[in-house]
Amino acid sequence: MAKLQITETVLRDAHQSLLATRMPIEDMLPILPKMNKVGFYSCEMWGGATFDSCIRFLNEDPWERLRIIRKEMPDTKLQMLFRGQNMLGYRPYADDVLEYFVQKSVSNGIDIIRIFDALNDIRNLQTAIKAAKKEGAHAQVAISYTTGEVFTNEYYCNYAKQIEEAGADSICIKDMAALLTPYNTEKLVRDLKATVKIPIQLHTHYTSGLASMCIMKAVEAGCDVVDTAMSPLALGTSHAPTESVVAAFQGTEYDTGLDLKLLTEIREYFMGLRAKYIEKGLLDPKMLATDANALIYQVPGGMLSNLLSQLKQAGKEDQLNEVLQEVPRVRKDSGYPPLVTPTSQIVGTQAVFNVIHGERYKVATKEFKAMVKGEYGKTPVEISPEFQKKILGDVEPITCRFADTIAPELETLRAECSEWIEQEEDVLTYAMFPNVAPKFFEKRRNEKYGIDGAHSDAENKVHPV
Ligand code: CO
Repeated sequence: MAKLQITETVLRDAHQSLLATRMPIEDMLPILPKMNKVGFYSCEMWGGATFDSCIRFLNEDPWERLRIIRKEMPDTKLQMLFRGQNMLGYRPYADDVLEYFVQKSVSNGIDIIRIFDALNDIRNLQTAIKAAKKEGAHAQVAISYTTGEVFTNEYYCNYAKQIEEAGADSICIKDMAALLTPYNTEKLVRDLKATVKIPIQLHTHYTSGLASMCIMKAVEAGCDVVDTAMSPLALGTSHAPTESVVAAFQGTEYDTGLDLKLLTEIREYFMGLRAKYIEKGLLDPKMLATDANALIYQVPGGMLSNLLSQLKQAGKEDQLNEVLQEVPRVRKDSGYPPLVTPTSQIVGTQAVFNVIHGERYKVATKEFKAMVKGEYGKTPVEISPEFQKKILGDVEPITCRFADTIAPELETLRAECSEWIEQEEDVLTYAMFPNVAPKFFEKRRNEKYGIDGAHSDAENKVHPV
């Protein structure tokens, strides 16, 4: 049966893309029972940014959010996004922390773990795939999609084969930068379907205005599941609207079978939230416009605005064009990393440095050095030994999986945060965000004991990201 299935992203990527991940659980709660009745393939509701936002801005325990959604949506699979060996944080972790995180995520209610690696290095995914399978979850691997001469369909199919062999249950094409065009999507899906047996899912953003067309072509080419967002929080930098995609395939062999009337009731609810967010200034209507710049410059939209703000800080905003020409050069030198967190920041900042210092690699950032050294994994193309020498000097590059060089660290982390622990999961919250978590834990404790206005040193610490 060619029936199309839908992953609803309104509780994760939609508000992450449009309103800086600021939707609190109180705004979700009233609509969860209705969403549970729709029959979505899954509901994406957890990930690095939602977790971070919960403790940093919303004063909300992310684990409690997971348990609440689990309780209110007993019939819908819950899905999370997982940054491979970096998990929900910004550095590679030892395997023992990763395994414990996966165990706790699944025991609290996660069904599907979508795992990706910025460099598409299969070694950064293997522990997560195994851990997910061990806990009985569905292990989906997302391919970080990018464009460039080395990123042929052959490259993607080769990676897809490795993913299938590593034991993944499905593959997602993760087009975070909205670089896919409809006909490229069709060809890629067709080639992947011919290469692997596991289901294929499409995750693409509306940024460049092509997402709906890409979805249609993907589905015709055999794509099994697509990501969408309820229309009030769709379009712009978010996803294609759920109701429109459902309507588009009604009465065809791909009919999702979802009830448009029920979706319209859910839409009403989110329209109210949308109005509230616009009024509060959380949702800038500018984000809802489409922008084909991503396709022209081949850099993600978010990266473009980052580059501009870095240049502004240096008083060199007139050099944006030089930087945009420098980005492909830096990518080529450093082995063509796809531009997605964290590599988009690493490459972008280095390109800015090259331009504003007037000399290539006169100053190399710590992160750029680490990437050239191999700490983030193997780059799609090998970096030349001459370039490595130029950047690293006498420091030897590594070729092993970086996580193999990290000793087990769960017990150390537990000891570090022992004074705050109220539930087993707290050590994981601390492990992911060691600078923010203590402040959150302290607030939680103070609220519990009715203490007001207490401050800790942690409040003065600046988050490194
Ligand atoms: Co996304």
